[in-house]
Amino acid sequence: MRAALQRLLPYLRPYRRQAFGVVVLGAVAAIGARISLVFFKPLVDRLGLPDGSGTPAEEQAPSGLDNWTENYLEPWLGSFGDWGMPAGVSEVVMILLLMTVLGLIFALVQFVFLRMSRMLAVYMITDVRQDMADHVVRLGMGYHSERRMGDLVSRLTTDVDASLRILSLMVEEIVQSPFAILASLALALAAEPVATLGMLILLPAIAYPVARIGPRIRRRARRTQDRLGDSTQVLTQMLSGIRVVKAFRMEEREAQEFRRVNQEFVTQTESMVKAQATSLAVTAFFANAGIGLVLAALALVHILYTPIFNDSGTMVVFFVAVGGLIALVKRLMRAITAIFASLGSVDRVFSVLDLEPEVKDAAGAQPFDRLQQGIRFEQVSFCYADADRPALADVNLDVKRGQRIALVGASGAGKSTMLDLVARFYDVSTGSLQVDGIELRELKHGDWLDRIAVVQQQPFLFQASLRENIRYGRPDATDEQILEACAAANLGDMLQQLPDGLDTQVGDAGARLSGGQAQRVTIARALLKDADVLLLDEATSALDSESERKVQIALDNLMTGRTTFVIAHRLGTIRGADRILVLEDGRIVESGSHEELLEANGSYAHMWHLQVGGPVEA
Ligand SMILES: Nc1ncnc2c1ncn2[C@@H]1O[C@H](COP(=O)(O)OP(=O)(O)OP(=O)(O)O)[C@@H](O)[C@H]1O
Ligand SMILES: [Mg+2]
Repeated sequence: MRAALQRLLPYLRPYRRQAFGVVVLGAVAAIGARISLVFFKPLVDRLGLPDGSGTPAEEQAPSGLDNWTENYLEPWLGSFGDWGMPAGVSEVVMILLLMTVLGLIFALVQFVFLRMSRMLAVYMITDVRQDMADHVVRLGMGYHSERRMGDLVSRLTTDVDASLRILSLMVEEIVQSPFAILASLALALAAEPVATLGMLILLPAIAYPVARIGPRIRRRARRTQDRLGDSTQVLTQMLSGIRVVKAFRMEEREAQEFRRVNQEFVTQTESMVKAQATSLAVTAFFANAGIGLVLAALALVHILYTPIFNDSGTMVVFFVAVGGLIALVKRLMRAITAIFASLGSVDRVFSVLDLEPEVKDAAGAQPFDRLQQGIRFEQVSFCYADADRPALADVNLDVKRGQRIALVGASGAGKSTMLDLVARFYDVSTGSLQVDGIELRELKHGDWLDRIAVVQQQPFLFQASLRENIRYGRPDATDEQILEACAAANLGDMLQQLPDGLDTQVGDAGARLSGGQAQRVTIARALLKDADVLLLDEATSALDSESERKVQIALDNLMTGRTTFVIAHRLGTIRGADRILVLEDGRIVESGSHEELLEANGSYAHMWHLQVGGPVEA
């Protein structure tokens, strides 16, 4: 538990002053709420007992409360005079006034305390959530390609919320309860020290089950949250693939899958709730039995040995204080039980924050401005974390600035992997990948990414205006520059037809644009970025020939003067490349210009003939 709290503590640091205020106000309010108890004695004393006596322990030494009431409180109350009222009335009215005023003051303090403490928890947890978001976008592709988006969303929402609950409870209960307990204890001691000390042995019994069962609650809570993450995972996957689900009429199967993970969540929750209920029930048993036990023990002592209370006032104060004390301890235990349950969530939050990004800047990473000479692969091999064979092996390649390199090869040959290495979404496993003669991993990754533009096979557009989508990589671009990029991306006609022009909102995942249009928007985005290096992953393969032609024109404009790596299945689009690499099982098996490769009559020539249908003249 301490370890988890230590993780949260740094988030308190920026709010040290509020935190200090919260503790002081919480203490004042908690103690203040119990102060009115001291007026119970003079009130009850005036009430007397029905038979006027009980068995007063006249021979007992008076308790601290007796002395204080007799020597200070009563004379002070009497000092205001009797206001012409029957004897004793003015004191009662005075007490009533005092209790009301004090009650109001401390209620006000409690109000400020609650506001401050709850907001403090909200501030802290917002910071945690911000940190998580900051951290998660920085995690490498290795993490994100595991596609646990739903689980991640669940951690960012429900787990962070559960952590908020723990913080609220902590600043409220854990700050106030100890002071309230101490105040009650002090009153009980003042009223009847021996009986109070005797009662104290009850407290460990109330606390024990919680301490004992707490860790179990935490473990089970963590598993419960894991199952909740699973169900969010299933849900997000179902929704992001909704077209496929519908097209294959798999609604029922998806619903069933969701039912299954949901049911697992229920089962897991049941086991956590069982532990929680056990802990609370045991606490409740001792707490509920507590006051009866105290009463019975006192009665026995009173009968067998010696009278205990001097008067009914002291007795009432004692029992109200002890009753309050037991209730407070019970409440504290309930809060601690809830905290144990939330710790499972805290674990899940921090296990994300603990992940190290796979790709990080080296200590003395060098800044990078513009590509001067080129990019060089030397004996580069790369193996995905969980793969048993390398996705790329012994790749050697020298790319001069401005060259256009085409990658072809069967599915799974390693083409996309090679592009990911250039972008440094992954670090090479062995060998060396250099930019202008410097190891890529010695450069500041951010600087390098600034010089790269990527166009994917599946264009991704944000739910925002076209303008926002296009200037994504260059937020300060003017409308003129954006329109220029649009023209070069062959988007001019489309823009003319849109009534809102650049202000047109792009729908969910670009649903309102056709595939070719969306692709050209991403090309405009890349154009505007004015990068040195282009990574094009089969940007045209999903399009019909008319859209492909339009996109190809846009791409040609984009590639002019830039160092380009382009993956293509349609070999016609890369005929003019400076060099074509044929990849097979992660190795470069052929390399050369279109003409050279046809000449060599290897697998490229074979693929070419298949696609164009029959041999062609070189
Ligand atoms: N994130 C990943 N984790 C583990 N293995 C991966 C991952 N991505 C790709 N691979 C594996 O690495 C190899 C190369 O994949 P890559 O995506 O580079 O192929 P590709 O040539 O781009 O194929 P395609 O033409 O189908 O896009 C494949 O065997 C693939 O299964
Ligand atoms: Mg690929």
